[in-house]
Parts: sequence; C-alpha cells; structure tokens
Amino acid sequence: MKILSIETSCDDTAIAIVECQNDFENLSTKILANVISSQTKLHAKSGGIIPNLAAREHEKNLIPVFKEALKLAKIKESDLKKKIDLIVTTKGPGLQPSLLMGLNFAKTLSYILNKPIVGTNHLLGHIFSNFVRNDEEFKNNIKLPLVVLLVSGGHTQLYKITNWNNIELMGETLDDASGECFDKIAKTLKLGYPGGVFISKIAENFRNKNKNYKLEFNLPKPLINSKDYNFSFSGLKTAVLYLTQKLKKDKKYNKKTVEKICFETEEVITDVLVKKTLKLAESINAKTIMISGGVSANKRLRSKFVEKINNQFDFLCPDRLMSTDNAVMIAVAGYYEYLKNKQDDCLLLEVDSNGKIE
Ligand code: KG4
Ligand code: ZN
Repeated sequence: MKILSIETSCDDTAIAIVECQNDFENLSTKILANVISSQTKLHAKSGGIIPNLAAREHEKNLIPVFKEALKLAKIKESDLKKKIDLIVTTKGPGLQPSLLMGLNFAKTLSYILNKPIVGTNHLLGHIFSNFVRNDEEFKNNIKLPLVVLLVSGGHTQLYKITNWNNIELMGETLDDASGECFDKIAKTLKLGYPGGVFISKIAENFRNKNKNYKLEFNLPKPLINSKDYNFSFSGLKTAVLYLTQKLKKDKKYNKKTVEKICFETEEVITDVLVKKTLKLAESINAKTIMISGGVSANKRLRSKFVEKINNQFDFLCPDRLMSTDNAVMIAVAGYYEYLKNKQDDCLLLEVDSNGKIE
C-alpha cells in the first residue's frame, strides 16, 4: 500500500510517500518521496528550538513540501485519491504547536480524500527507521529478543523487544537526553546547532590527529555503573560549563582546549550509552542490538558498538539519513500500527505531546 506520512514534531517539516508491503516480519519498503525542510538555520541563532517559531515555519512549509513530495513520487494532485491508500502523521511526543500543524494537515487530507489515518508515535518511528532497509544484512540480523537504544534530542531510552507486539521501555534518562547534552555543551562552547553534529566533527578531526591522547578533564560518566538502565546527562553538561569557566579564568580557553572538550564529551557520552546497552542485552540474552534517533548518526557511537559487541550480538543501525527526523520512518511506524488495526478517526485524533509507545 502507498502511505503518505507527515512529521512535524520538532523543527523539521517532513513528508514522505512510501510503499509498504507484506506483514511486519517480512516488510519491504520502497521510498517514492522523502522531503525534509530543515529549520536548522533559523534555530541556530538561539542555539535551540523556539516552539512558536517552529510552528510558524511548519505552517509556511507544509504545502511546498507536500507539493515537492507529490512531484518526486510522480503523483498528480488530481490522482491523489487513487494513488494514496493511507495517511500517517506523528501525534507525539514533541512540541505541541509543531505537532498540531502536521496533525491538522493530515486530518484535512484524510477527510477530503476519505482515506484512513493513523496517528503514530515519533519514538516508534525512530525504532522503525531501521526497517527502511531491504538488504540481506538487515533481514538476517533482525532476530529477537532485541535491545533498542533510542538516542535523540529529546529522548535517551532503552527498549526490550521480545515479540513485535511488545516493545517494553527498560530505562531512560532521568534528566537531559544525550542529544540535548551535545546541544547544550555545543551552546556553551558557541559551536552551533544542532550541537552533536559540530561536536562530533571536531572530535573526529582531533582523534585523527591525536591517536594516543589520554583523557585530561576527568568528565563524569553519569550512572555508568548503576544497577538500572537509566541515564543522566545534566551533570555532564554542568561539568563542562564549570570546566570552561575555569579554563577561561586561567586563560587556557582556546581552540585546542575546545577540541579536547569536544573529544572528551563524545567519549564519555558514547561510553555510557554503549555500556548500558550491552548490560541490558547481556541480561536478557538478546540476539540483536539496534540503535536509532539523531545521536545514532554519530560515527564514534557506531564504531564503539561494533568494537565492543565483538560478534556477541548482531548489530543494526539505520542509514545515517534515517537517523535524524524524517517522515519515512513515520510511514513505517504507521504501517505497523495499521497492521495491528490501530486506525484513528480523523475527527477524534488528537496530539499526544508526552506520548509513550503503547
Ligand atoms: O532524532 P532527532 O533528529 O530529533 C529528535 O527527535 O530529537 O535528533 C536530534 C539530535 C540533536 O540533539 C543532535 O545534536 C543529535 O541528534 N545529533 C547528533 C549527531 N547528529 C545529530 N549527535 C551526535 N552526533 C551526531 N553526528
Ligand atoms: Zn526524532
């Protein structure tokens, strides 16, 4: 079936048209259009997202993005009713003003075209961003039980999946998400937004030039040895703030120390994420570890997983373009819900801005 999906939970206006086939275990996907209009430049000025500004941009962008998606999928507006079988939109979690824009657009389409609609969960979308692959490695490695590390700007969570009807949250951050920590540290260091992208580029260059560098700043690795599967990153953010203040006072704050801070930040965040994920995977005898969300685009995180897993588990990560927010993953999550008969009534569908995966 052909799915038109809409994602506006945060600062990207994204619309995709995806063909999904078969039951979920044998899913095959074909992307007919994947359009993303990013608001990065707008929010770079403030170093973070201002919800009302983001909503206003969605309002401006939705129709042009929609038209572009139709053009890419070679669907004429007059053929929409014939060519599209299902409308999917993100209903949460996310910024309420942003969510409302996409949801309202989707509801209008569903009503006018008289097509079924599914309001899906953004986090489920991130998990299923891994399913936008039809290659053999994916098909061979998607074995249960499975552990998912979901790391984005707003979430850091560990899930256990023993069967596809049961996605169980095992732990999450008690304060800041790992992506948020990257973003806030980048703001302290005045590097730009989204912070993870800037920090990881600087860290990678530093690593290539300083192969034998030993960590100097003793940054905290919060909850790395705790018995549960929770995370905490706000202490690390504060530690970097104090460190930069001290370096400035001692007149040692310069390009080189900023590079070191970026490198060390990435090291401690990735150490904590990998260690806790492996701990959960070992405790449930998982067959596969899967990562998802914006921070899963991080090359160091990916290489650390490959190194530490050491063939004990199969490892899956999404195509890097699928790691960050997009509407293709929302189409797949909607298809999953549709197969479970979780359709919504287009008149009753509401935003669920704190939404947990049900
Ligand atoms: O999943 P996402 O696109 O949006 C949310 O749902 O939040 O994630 C955005 C987050 C931002 O915090 C950004 O800094 C982080 O993903 N991010 C990265 C990288 N690319 C994006 N963090 C570390 N390394 C990266 N390469
Ligand atoms: Zn996201």
